[in-house]
Amino acid sequence: MTSFPTIDDLDPRQRLLVRIDVNAPVEDGVVQDDRRFARHAETIRELLADDHAIALLAHQGRPGRATFVSLEQHAAILADHLGQSVEFVADTYGDEALSSIEHLEHGDVLLLENVRMCEGELPEEEPDVKAETKLVRTLATSFDAYVNDAYATAHRSHASIVGFPLVTDAYAGRVMEQEYRENTAIRDREFDGTVTMILGGTKAEDTIPVVEQLADVVDQFCLGGVIGELFLRADGHDLGYDVDGMDLFDHQWANHSETIERTLEAHRDRLVLPTDLAYEDDDNRVEVLVEGIVKDTSYLDIGSETIDRYTNLVSTSDAVYVKGAVGVFEDERFADGTVAILSTIADTDCFSVVGGGDTAHSIVLYDLDEKDFTRVSIAGGAYVRALTGESLVGIDVLERGGQK
Ligand code: 3PG
Repeated sequence: MTSFPTIDDLDPRQRLLVRIDVNAPVEDGVVQDDRRFARHAETIRELLADDHAIALLAHQGRPGRATFVSLEQHAAILADHLGQSVEFVADTYGDEALSSIEHLEHGDVLLLENVRMCEGELPEEEPDVKAETKLVRTLATSFDAYVNDAYATAHRSHASIVGFPLVTDAYAGRVMEQEYRENTAIRDREFDGTVTMILGGTKAEDTIPVVEQLADVVDQFCLGGVIGELFLRADGHDLGYDVDGMDLFDHQWANHSETIERTLEAHRDRLVLPTDLAYEDDDNRVEVLVEGIVKDTSYLDIGSETIDRYTNLVSTSDAVYVKGAVGVFEDERFADGTVAILSTIADTDCFSVVGGGDTAHSIVLYDLDEKDFTRVSIAGGAYVRALTGESLVGIDVLERGGQK
């Protein structure tokens, strides 16, 4: 049972502002994965069946990252999934956008430009502050209601997520409703045997607190990716910092080193760290033992010794949760760790949940079958917060709005 209004509560033929999350991996400016598009297309199709006029609000990447691009190509991908045209306007709430919104007919779909390009969307601030932004105040007056289907961003207190429900009628879309229902906190489930969690990916700050929060219910945390290197750094290895103009490690270390060190100290018995890593040399995958390593390159995957250890642990587990990839799986040479772990889960009769927007993409990329996992979430940070039992601010405001 949900305690917020859903699209089932909407009257037909409304003018709707719908927040979706089609934030995707992008390489050389091109979107690489359409799983989120497919899921949101289902919500949009349902809304179109009720003859609504729909403007979509979404983001892609973060300012300063190579993945921070316009949503023009996203409109075309969405149109393919919907089987109808999706107009795109390179503006979010300026005159051009407002004019396109004004001309929207019932049955039309319009995608507005990347909302993170607008003042007011970032940074995270209290919902009441976000509700006062020009972005929210301007757009809210152009629609009858707001629908939030962006579960994967529900943990961010950004204007497009938390502002609208405080000023206009707000409803949860289907993706929001389903993911909310299905991403049940780990501590609400009971397992007889070992519970393992694989933590990787690049957004270490989302996953660092998870070890402390779940140390009483997860027996072993196997670390890879950026979080793996940061814990190795805390363990005294010459790893876990930026080289070659990277911008992945140092700021996350600066903000979280104390937590990492404290977590390592308190939960060493549950933490499994890589003992070898892989890097690129002369176009080849080369592996090196962590002991005695001097970081002068990017490490792109866990090594074979670590892969054996992690897959053994997975194969004897009753439940396995995955958040984030342990290597740069988009490059086949560095997909060994991620693919070996996911294949072992798929072959093992365990309860399994895989999350992390990019991680779920690896399932498609390496021809694994989603049906071999108990559940695959399209969300990353929101998914991990749901697992730890933390509330999601985007859902809190929908509940608050529902009590208006
Ligand atoms: C995600 O992919 O996890 C969401 O789109 C949120 O993105 P963010 O971590 O950049 O806020």
